This record gives sequence, structure tokens and C-alpha cells, in this order.
Amino acid sequence: MTFNGFQETTTPENNPDLTERETIEADLLLEGVHRLYGYDFRNYAKPSLMRRIWHHVHAENLDTISQLQNKVLHDRSCFERMVQSLSIPVTEMFRDPELFRTFRREIVPILRTYPYIRIWHAGCSTGEEVYSMAILLHEEGLYDKARIYATDMNDRSLKQAKEGIYGIEKMKLYTKNYLEAGGTQSFSDYYTAKYNSVMLQPYLRKNIIFAEHNLATDRSFNEFNVILCRNVMIYFNDTLRDQVHGLFYESLSRFGILVLGSKESIHFTQFSDCYEPLDRVEKIYRKIK
Ligand SMILES: C[S@@+](CC[C@H](N)C(=O)[O-])C[C@H]1O[C@@H](n2cnc3c(N)ncnc32)[C@H](O)[C@@H]1O
Repeated sequence: MTFNGFQETTTPENNPDLTERETIEADLLLEGVHRLYGYDFRNYAKPSLMRRIWHHVHAENLDTISQLQNKVLHDRSCFERMVQSLSIPVTEMFRDPELFRTFRREIVPILRTYPYIRIWHAGCSTGEEVYSMAILLHEEGLYDKARIYATDMNDRSLKQAKEGIYGIEKMKLYTKNYLEAGGTQSFSDYYTAKYNSVMLQPYLRKNIIFAEHNLATDRSFNEFNVILCRNVMIYFNDTLRDQVHGLFYESLSRFGILVLGSKESIHFTQFSDCYEPLDRVEKIYRKIK
């Protein structure tokens, strides 16, 4: 029988006890991970979290979540692999190009009026979103007065982000995205190709600070004019989403701009009254109180 794409002997569907047992096992695993390693996955949305946990149970050649708990608590490398499994680092340069086109049209004129610009990419994964912003600001003549803070909980993703080296096979899609996003140069000017990889131009990295930061457990660390957090909070439950919105609210300057992307919204959070929409489709908001 299959459960979540894996071979199982029993499934929650035909064994209600397993659903309850599975929930208890997962709760104990997440509690143990939080207490021992300080990573808090307890308020991640359950359906996708359970899929990732089961994926990791099988990747470790185990049969139950309790066995995973035992291994994770006694073997740090197993915990580190689990963080990778739970992290979902999927990203692209100029992902959802319309967002960047809108940013260029609606937000850049506002940023031009600022003496300096502090931007936070929360959940930056392997860096593609951040370098896309660096290119956009460079083309608009704003890069030199910008500081971009790029954070993620996944140290392995951050390492790749710092290197700025990506597979050459991705450049076709990234070039298409760049043009759709309103890019004004030749995209290949921004990288040097070597064998099967490309390295982004080092000047794009000049004003980017990469750092480990966990949205579930870490605090505000600066004040920003713009915060982008896309495709991250979709993995959180309402409690954690509200908590992270609290962190963003606290970290935004007066009239600061929050960019969530078309799939997410400030509605139904405790902070919906604190913002006005600047773009209703791309879910770009301005803090008003
Ligand atoms: C799907 S990627 C999104 C990357 C990029 N923002 C984009 O839209 O292309 C989600 C990222 O969120 C990060 N993430 C998940 N939970 C996090 C947390 N509690 N704190 C910081 N980053 C987190 C993951 O490690 C992953 O790199």
C-alpha cells in the first residue's frame, strides 16, 4: 500500500489508530528536536510537514517516526539531514516575473526618495531571489545605496547562496524570467560560464549580507524599508504565521513595504489593519500604523 508516495504496510486511512499514533510520534519528534537542537517545527502546517517527515523516515531506511526520533536525538548528522528534508529550498531567479515587474514600476519610485535602502529577504534559500533583486536595483541605479540582508534557517542553502554559483542548465529559464520581469540588459552579462556552472558577477554580492536566521525562534535584528518573504509562510500554520507577521511588523520602518507575492496575503492575520495595499495582485503592502 502507498502512503504519501511511499511503500507502507498500514495506512492512516485503514487504521485510525495509526493516525493518532502518528500524530503523537510526530509531536514527540518535534518536541525533542526543539528541546535538543532549538529548531522549532511544531507550528508548521501539518499535511506537508507529515509528508516531509515520512519522506525522511524512508530516506533513513526506517519504518516509524519514533525510530526517526531515536536516531535524530542520538545522531546530530541525522538531525542535520532532517533539516534539509524539511526545508524545501525550491527557488528561481526572477521567480514569478510579474512580481519583479510590479516592484520596478510601483516600489522603485518610492525607494528613489530614500537616502539609503535596507531590504530583508526572509527565507532566501539558495539566493536566486536576492540576486534578482540586486540586478533590479543595479539597473535602476539604486544598488549602491542598498544593503540587502538575506536570511534562511538552512545553512547549506546559505552556503550556496554566498557562492552565487548555479547550474548552467537553469539559465534558459532564468533568462526568460528576467526578460518577463522587465530586465533591460542582456542577462548573460550578469554571469560567467565555466563548464556546467555559472558564477554571478561578484559586484552583485557586494552589498548583500547572508546570515542564518530562523523565523520561528529568532528575533528582529534590524529595521528595514522593505521585507520580502515569499513561499515560506505557506508552510506555517496560523499561529506561526501570525508570530512571523509580528516579527515583520516590528522590523519594518514607518511606511515600510512588505512583499508577500501573489500566493499569500496579510488578510486573516492579526496585522491586516496595520497595512494598506500597494498592489493587490502581488500582495505588496505598506505599513501605515
Ligand atoms: C520555497 S523556499 C522560498 C525561497 C524564495 N523566497 C522564493 O520564493 O523563491 C522556502 C525557504 O524557506 C526557508 N524556511 C523554512 N522555514 C524557515 C524558518 N523557520 N526560518 C527561516 N527560513 C525558513 C527554507 O529553508 C527554504 O529555503
